[in-house]
Amino acid sequence: MTDVAVRHVDSIVVGSGIAGLTAALAHGNCVVVSKSATGEGSSRWAQGGIAAAVGPDDDPRFHADDTTEVSGGLGRAEIATLVTGAAPDQIEWLRSLGADFDTAPDGSLRLGREAGHDQRRIVHANGDATGAEVMRTLVRATVERTDIERLDDTLVVDLLRDGDRVVGVLALHPDDGLVALVSPAVVLATGGIGRLYLHTTNPREVTADGLAMAARAGAVIRDPEFVQFHPTAFHSDLDPMPLLTEALRGEGAQLLDDRGRRYMVDVHADAELAPRDVVARENWRRRREGAIHLDARMIGADFAERFPTVWQITQQAGLDPRVDLLPVSPAEHYHMGGIATDDSGRSSVAGLYACGEAASTGLHGANRLASNSLLEGLVFGSRVAAAMVDDRDRFVAPTRVDVPETALRLRPDAAHSAEIEDLRRTMWDDVGVVRDAAGLTRASQRIAELAPRLATHPEGRNLAEAARLITDAALAREESRGSHFRSDHPETAAIASHSLLHPVPATATRIDVACQPSRAGA
Ligand code: FAD
Ligand code: SIN
Repeated sequence: MTDVAVRHVDSIVVGSGIAGLTAALAHGNCVVVSKSATGEGSSRWAQGGIAAAVGPDDDPRFHADDTTEVSGGLGRAEIATLVTGAAPDQIEWLRSLGADFDTAPDGSLRLGREAGHDQRRIVHANGDATGAEVMRTLVRATVERTDIERLDDTLVVDLLRDGDRVVGVLALHPDDGLVALVSPAVVLATGGIGRLYLHTTNPREVTADGLAMAARAGAVIRDPEFVQFHPTAFHSDLDPMPLLTEALRGEGAQLLDDRGRRYMVDVHADAELAPRDVVARENWRRRREGAIHLDARMIGADFAERFPTVWQITQQAGLDPRVDLLPVSPAEHYHMGGIATDDSGRSSVAGLYACGEAASTGLHGANRLASNSLLEGLVFGSRVAAAMVDDRDRFVAPTRVDVPETALRLRPDAAHSAEIEDLRRTMWDDVGVVRDAAGLTRASQRIAELAPRLATHPEGRNLAEAARLITDAALAREESRGSHFRSDHPETAAIASHSLLHPVPATATRIDVACQPSRAGA
């Protein structure tokens, strides 16, 4: 216990993707803790862009309708209205910080098209390198702010509690070891769960940490079974699997089976631009029968300028998308479920907030509309910041806090790659695009066997906890809805209901935090 250094700070943002940095910039006076470098994470990898009703014939109401339409009856219309209504201003905010979005010669924003949107609405930068431009902008703005401290390469391993509120985080600092950062407000902006699946488009650091930490602190978790699979990852041995943006299909790219037949026209009226879950399921089914390909040859001679990220991916594989078909398969891409929040990002536990992919705000329900997640990160990053200011009144810094016992027994250097790969394959095989009771039960048993073996691994234990939450909820949901498809229950229940999990807080131990500052970030 004595080797836990202690610092008292104004507020803490865990994660420096789009959600975390937006929250930090809007709030100021905070420490941003990142497990790698500031700005790393899924946000930087985003390709298609940011959905916003800025076109001449568009209206946030149409965007809200499309958002709710794909949500499988579980998206909250008032959250869709709030988020889509704020979108044009968020784009202007990013531009005011220096984000250079693609424009037409008349200065208007160029807009892309993606599945589920009734019109062109996707604001993008450098073709398909939107995330890189947005994160370049946000990181630069953050670095310029003297009231925002960045703690990089620092892994938050658990939340500190005092009674029934969260009062800080326990983090592994590269020089100082375990550090307790005590604060009235903690924002979890830790991103998704991608590493939990054998095939994912997400960077390696996306290991469900926020979801698992919030669960250990007793926060309500909503709809964890809703996991989105992107239909067109570039099929390869690469891990993660590179993404071939949906914007290609928005420009006319078609899906072909191994005999060169275009199959989505037989599946859905919108063919390749059907909702993402529909295309992912069809690709999953087809992929089991043989290779499937994306034909993007019609995009033509200026492919490299319009889609530089995809161009680079295909070039590295020795393919030329102007003449070659591109092998694709589905891969885990996004987590709709997560830490349940209200419309300002407050979790069910006082002092704990969540935004970005880690949160379940009610925007996406059972299925996310393409390019709505960067937007959600922006809107809820700002809202969380306002809520933290509103809530901070009567906070009294505690002298002793509770921390899950297991956090003090972690072995960061422990090698558990075999168990983690086992877990990832289990999730892919049995808790993937198509599920059934037998597979989910098998997965549940395997996760229970693997969890104790991952208990001392800082991220492995989070993956195991997230796997358990997702699998339990998927087993309990005996219907198909949005991204959750049960082959043994293909029907959709008449009444749409949420899965609300109320985890019991982990067994805790008390540590003294009434002492001197640590060196971390001092
Ligand atoms: P992230 O950007 O993933 O950031 C998470 C942060 O948390 C990172 O800084 C990470 O280091 C930190 N972190 C995590 N755990 C810890 C811990 N324990 N301790 C300390 N730090 C921690 N969405 C769109 O809207 N449009 C798109 O075009 C689009 N394209 C995409 C393309 C790809 C390839 C991928 C992977 C995703 C795409 N998405 C897109 C989804 C979108 O990028 C993400 O949902 C969104 O960026 C998540 O943002 P975030 O801020 O919540 O998390
Ligand atoms: C893509 O560019 O296909 C990803 C868009 C998204 O996930 O929102």
